[in-house]
Amino acid sequence: MAVLITGGCGYIGSHTVVELKNAGFDIVVLDNFYNSKPEALRRVRELVKGDFPFYECDIRDAEGLRRIFKENSIEVVIHFAGLKAVGESVTIPLEYFENNVGGTVTLCKAMSEAGCKKMVFSSSATVYGMNNPSPLKEDMPVGAVTNPYGRTKYFIEEILGDLCKSDSEWTAVCLRYFNPIGAHQSGTIGEDPNGIPNNLMPYISQVAIGKLDKLPVFGNDYDTHDGTGVRDYIHVVDLALGHLRALEYALEHTGWEAINLGTGTGYSVLDLINAFEKANGVRVPHYFTSRREGDVAVCYSDPSKAERLLGWKAARGIEEMCRDTWRWQSKNPRGYE
Ligand code: NAD
Ligand code: UD1
Repeated sequence: MAVLITGGCGYIGSHTVVELKNAGFDIVVLDNFYNSKPEALRRVRELVKGDFPFYECDIRDAEGLRRIFKENSIEVVIHFAGLKAVGESVTIPLEYFENNVGGTVTLCKAMSEAGCKKMVFSSSATVYGMNNPSPLKEDMPVGAVTNPYGRTKYFIEEILGDLCKSDSEWTAVCLRYFNPIGAHQSGTIGEDPNGIPNNLMPYISQVAIGKLDKLPVFGNDYDTHDGTGVRDYIHVVDLALGHLRALEYALEHTGWEAINLGTGTGYSVLDLINAFEKANGVRVPHYFTSRREGDVAVCYSDPSKAERLLGWKAARGIEEMCRDTWRWQSKNPRGYE
């Protein structure tokens, strides 16, 4: 019985593949390389010192999916594949709905057809929208999202909920990630964004390596301890390990669940810059500029449900997140190129 990982060559997927393989799971990986490179797959295979079936396939390709389910005995799917750039989703919303929502529906149909009815889904803290106070809890109202990307995550959660209601054999565990950063401690796999990064940590590390000049800090007049935005940064390896626990939970249960994966601790932009400089002995020049549209002042999780249901808790602190990011960045100044 195997685990299918969609989007397994991407940032979070590649780290999860390593942990799954190290824990002895049989895995099958699928990706269309839209936002990843074959080099990531090669390095993952090298890291785990072993092979596994890989399919270059799109989740919107029903025939391709049928073939994967026919050729492998898949019991559960971890579904990472999707587009994730918030700004881009505002410009090309239909691509986001087609890829994320349409693709997930096609995948669920292929799963149902093959009698595989268990999914662990990559959702996001973005579903909590602008109106909930932190710490964010799973029973708070969701859906007041500010962009099409966030809406795809909310819609998919709802679709999976309806699916579980319609068929009591279905299981969907929606993991609401907070802000994944860091890299595998070997420094051989990590986050490799295209172009100028949208997210804070890759921007910091590209400034530190000299690829970018200065970090723009979006707003220093928020109601936070130093005026800059506060987020719940989580080490990508902790996040990957959360998927292993969620997988075990999905194998033993049916029905729909939403679970936060965060640390429960918030750090500001300046906190993260300071931690990065201190951990790595480098400078991160920055300047203050206006707030970014759609940003909230504070966003961090209540992670207690994950501990209660999955027996999972983040173990890696901010210093380790900064050190591991820097090891990856300095060993691979041009990413996977
Ligand atoms: P990523 O872009 O690095 O990985 C996604 C992978 O999916 C890529 O390898 C891409 O090539 C692949 N993919 C995209 N569309 C596909 C399709 N139609 N068919 C097959 N493969 C396809 O992103 P990530 O950071 O690893 O995120 C993984 C998931 O977690 C995404 O669904 C994302 O929305 C979600 N998420 C990410 C974050 C974050 O900060 N990184 C936060 C919350 C949620
Ligand atoms: C963003 C997305 C969110 C997504 C998450 C993880 C937006 C509005 N939200 O969240 O939907 O789920 O990434 O992929 O894009 N910052 C700077 N300068 C920068 C970049 C960021 O000051 O160059 C600040 C931001 O204002 C924020 C913090 O750093 O306060 C973190 O930003 P980011 O890494 O983009 O994550 P989120 O805004 O939490």
